[in-house]
Amino acid sequence: MTIRFDGQVAIVTGAGGGLGREHALALAARGAKVVVNDLGGARDGSGGSATAAEAMVAEIEAAGGEAMANAASVTDAAAVEAMVAEIMAGWGRIDILVNNAGILRDKSFAKMDLADFQLVMDVHLMGAVHCTKAVWEIMRTQNYGRIVMTTSSSGLFGNFGQANYGAAKMALVGLMQTLAIEGAKNDIRVNALAPTAHTRMTEDLQGLPLEALGPDLVTPGLLHLVSRDAPTRAILAAGAGGFERAYVTLTQGDFAIGPDAAEQVAARFDAISDRTNEIVPEMGAAQGMIELTKAKAALSS
Ligand SMILES: NC(=O)c1ccc[n+]([C@@H]2O[C@H](COP(=O)([O-])OP(=O)(O)OC[C@H]3O[C@@H](n4cnc5c(N)ncnc54)[C@H](O)[C@@H]3O)[C@@H](O)[C@H]2O)c1
Repeated sequence: MTIRFDGQVAIVTGAGGGLGREHALALAARGAKVVVNDLGGARDGSGGSATAAEAMVAEIEAAGGEAMANAASVTDAAAVEAMVAEIMAGWGRIDILVNNAGILRDKSFAKMDLADFQLVMDVHLMGAVHCTKAVWEIMRTQNYGRIVMTTSSSGLFGNFGQANYGAAKMALVGLMQTLAIEGAKNDIRVNALAPTAHTRMTEDLQGLPLEALGPDLVTPGLLHLVSRDAPTRAILAAGAGGFERAYVTLTQGDFAIGPDAAEQVAARFDAISDRTNEIVPEMGAAQGMIELTKAKAALSS
């Protein structure tokens, strides 16, 4: 069935270029009213101008869609709240939030300033927190919401020179895990998208066939994650037309107790690491339950 967003309102942060631009165009083309948020700054987060967001709105309108420009920085909680108030005054609801705005301040950890670490956390993590917090009560009241966190393979798996970026991107997965649980009873579904795309963010990457990595090839995954039939708590990886899922898993493990427990852990590290029958816990408490079950079995035998 064709995925449509008629009558829905979507916010896409960082929608002035790159992936956000493709997401915004596709949502508008499929009937959503789209709020194009973009600070309009440089790749490292410096500067800012409303031009990027306004140009996108003009493009969406020229194609027959409806859009609203917003140049707030997602790091500014008050400006984000003002954006949400303006949307509610104009369009009366918010169905979809795509947390996509992002910057880079790459350096090896040895050379990285704390200020560069902090700014990257502020934009990616706190930016998503500000936007999500501002729409959360609205979505709860509507009993409907779809939220996507833009994570990254750098956070999920690591990447040299991106300690700040990777930490922020994995923090977004943690935010998703809990918000998906808390949002479930009000049909708020929260997912994470890990894209690979040729944008200004990746233009210096060596060895990648950038022409095969159009950002438009990621957007179909985003559209599913914000649709009525969206999953929740999924980490969807996407690039060059390929789609995969990433999971945070738990092995069945082993049991070690007593004065030489450390040595037992060392001796049985292979068994602890064995991925046979590993699970994807539905919530954090599952870990404790598995551990207590093992302890009970070991102590009663
Ligand atoms: N391109 C990739 O391969 C890739 C890989 C993994 C994750 N990502 C993530 O995808 C998202 C989009 O990145 P992109 O590749 O399209 O890069 P991009 O630089 O083209 O897009 C990011 C956009 O965010 C905007 N922005 C930056 N700071 C902002 C702020 N404080 N408030 C509002 N807007 C702000 C920028 O102006 C820019 O338009 C980012 O979160 C990025 O980390 C991209």
